[in-house]
This record gives sequence, structure tokens and C-alpha cells, in this order.
Amino acid sequence: MTTDAVHILQALTTPEGKADPYPLYAELHDLGEAARLGPGQVIVMGYDAINAVLRDPGFRHADLATIALVFPDWGEHVSLRHSADWILNLNEPEHTRIRGLIAKAFTARRVASLQPAIERMTDELLDAMADRGADGSPVEFMHDFAYLLPVTVICELIGIPESDRETFRPIARAIATVFDFEDFDQLRAADEATVELEAYYTGLAAQRRAKPRDDLLSALVGIAGEQDGRLSDAELTRNLTLLLVAGFETTTNLLGNGLQLLLHDQALATAVRTGDVPVGSFAEEVLRFDSPVQLATSRIGYETELGGLHIDAGDHLMPVLGAGNRDPRKFTAPDKFDPMRAEAGPLSFGGGAHFCVGAALARLEAAVAFPRLLARFPAIAPAGEPVRRTGLVLRGFDILPVAVG
Ligand code: HEM
Repeated sequence: MTTDAVHILQALTTPEGKADPYPLYAELHDLGEAARLGPGQVIVMGYDAINAVLRDPGFRHADLATIALVFPDWGEHVSLRHSADWILNLNEPEHTRIRGLIAKAFTARRVASLQPAIERMTDELLDAMADRGADGSPVEFMHDFAYLLPVTVICELIGIPESDRETFRPIARAIATVFDFEDFDQLRAADEATVELEAYYTGLAAQRRAKPRDDLLSALVGIAGEQDGRLSDAELTRNLTLLLVAGFETTTNLLGNGLQLLLHDQALATAVRTGDVPVGSFAEEVLRFDSPVQLATSRIGYETELGGLHIDAGDHLMPVLGAGNRDPRKFTAPDKFDPMRAEAGPLSFGGGAHFCVGAALARLEAAVAFPRLLARFPAIAPAGEPVRRTGLVLRGFDILPVAVG
């Protein structure tokens, strides 16, 4: 059984496996909810087992000492060192304290209040796409829409002035490679971008302290919990960096993966445009069917049973969200795209204490973007070969050419 799981994992890292991991996930499901890859390594692919891992605080994120064992040069990279302070990588009680403080500023009301801005930005991007495609030329959806909308929305949320936003896109991209880096040049670029971004945030935070505005940054610097204290400067700048990178390419991939499905299913596109398929149901099924984030961050085990497998203390667990979303034990015909299915929700935003902070914002962006896109370009069609991203963690496209005329 171990050998099977190892072979499947190896196949998942090949170009073919990355292009279409789903047949390999189906093979993984035949092995059960979780399987041992070797001493100390466990892959978790069953829906219930993944949920259990994410919701049980006994499964912890690796501390620095554990990370240094597998990657001794880790500490030399400021991007990785500082990402260790992201709430994504913290355990309780630090996680609970910092996330609690962030939640006081990142409220449902603040997200909902962004809707008019998201609508305006969507329409501006659609106008630009219409101009570019007016003569019948293909328009590159990922660049011209799917990257620009989420990064602009996060800048609006945080309160980054419009004049500074242009410089944010490459910085955000460079730092986001820490989720999925394939070589050390990428990591060095992420290091430089981290230093630049944190210096920028420090300056902007000082301005907002002196003169608060109605934005997330002003709310975050203004927070003074009775018992929880404040966010330290480092906690603030590092977690602002997390918000930018966690909220950017993930949502980009939701938009790209969703459009790819619409491009190849005219009836579905019509149903989403007319509202016969509610856009919320469509977006949830895109999240399940082709999750923008395929792997959750790894967790360290304690001695317990997980989906019939014995877990030893110190085991590294790899929860494969994209596989859990296609678990035949949970979903009937899991490889069928069915926005009207009324089964379990997708695992794509994680679960438990680390459940995605930005889930409501991502859903709002999708709910605004898809109907407007389809209304503006009812005949939108593929216009060339799409190019997939090559990482294992984030699943989506680098290039998705469309004809909008
Ligand atoms: C479709 C879009 C998105 C997807 C699929 C997604 C997915 C996820 C997942 C799977 C996790 C948990 C990872 C784990 O437990 O290992 C997570 C956490 C997080 N997400 Fe998202 N995300 C999306 C959009 C956003 C947005 C828009 C923001 C912010 C503006 C955001 C901010 C965060 C933060 C801060 C965390 C860490 C939460 C914690 O550890 O307590 N995400 N996201």
C-alpha cells in the first residue's frame, strides 16, 4: 500500500499529473482515507480524514526546528522566516490571539461594503477587455482580468493608494511563490519582495496611525483588545503580506478555473448568465471540482487513528484538498460538474481554526465577476491553447486566451 501511494504521488509531480491530477486522486481513494508514504510521511485524501486533520488542533503546524530538519538553509530566506509568523503557519495560542485581532478589523461588514468597488473594478476590466478584443484579437483572460481583479480588490480592502497599486502585482506574485517554489531563484526574488513590501507597509501604517481612514489598515493599527493587546509591528506587516498573497492568486485561479468550465459548456454558461444556475452554486462547484488550492499546509501528527491508519507522533501529514473534494465516499459521481448538487461543501477554503479568512471576499468576487462577464460577452469562446501553472499547491492557468467579440 505504501508503494502504491508513493508511485501515485510521484506521478502527481510529473507534467501530466499536474495537468490532470484527478485520475490519480481516484487511484488514491482506492487506498482509503489516508496512506503512509514512508516513515514519518502520510498523505491524507479522504474528505472526512482531511476535515478531521484541519479541525483537530492536536495536528499542529511544523515549528521552526522541525522545518530546519528538512530544509537547513530555511532561515537564510527572509521570505520563509517571516512567513513563519503568518497566522497560516501558527499554532494556538499565538494563532488564536493574532487571528482574533485581525478578525476584529476584517469583518463581514467590511467585506460586504466592498461590493460597489468590486462591481466598478469588474466593469472597468471588462471595458478594457472589450477594447482589446474589438478587432477580433484574442484577449488573455488571466492577465487582463483574473489577476487584476483580486489584487486590486485586496489593495482596496487594505487601503493601498491607487497610485501604488501597479507596483504591487509583481511583488505579490514574487512572494506567493513561497507556497509553491520550484527553484531558489524564485525564493531569492520572494526575499527581495518581502523586504520591499514590509518597508512599504511600515510607512503606510505610520501614515494611517497619524491619520486613520476607512480601510482595513487603519482598523488594524487602531485595534486595542482589552486582553489581547495589539498587533506588534512585525505581526501587522507580516500578516498584511499574508493577506495579499493568500487572497490574490487563489481567487485568480477560482476565476480562471471557472471560466475554463464555462468556455466548454455553453448550456452552463447560459444558465449562469440567466441565473437559472445561481452564481453562488456555480462558484461552490468550481471550488469543489477544480480547487484553486490543492494542498493545505502540512500538519504534524500525534499518536492517534486517522481514517483507519495509525498516526505516530511527529508524522508529517499532507492534506490533499483537491482529492478530498472528489472523494467518492462523499460525492456521487465526483468527477461530474454539477452545480446543483446538495452534498457536503468543498474543502477548498480549509476548515477549523485556519478556515480561510477571505472566503466571503473570494465568493463575493466570483458572484460579481461571472454574471457580469457573461452578460458583457455572451459569445465568449476559447481562442487558443490555455497554459496551466506548474506548481502542485495552486491549481489554475497562466494563460487562458479568449475571444470576446
Ligand atoms: C478562492 C479563493 C481562496 C481560496 C481557495 C483560499 C484557500 C485557503 C485555504 C485552503 C486556507 C487554509 C489553509 C490551511 O489550513 O492550511 C486559507 C487560509 C487563509 N486565507 Fe484563503 N483562500 C482564498 C481566498 C482568500 C482571500 C481573498 C484572502 C484575503 C483577502 C485569504 C486569506 C487567507 C488567510 C489570511 C488564511 C490563513 C487563515 C489562518 O491560518 O487562520 N484567502 N485560504
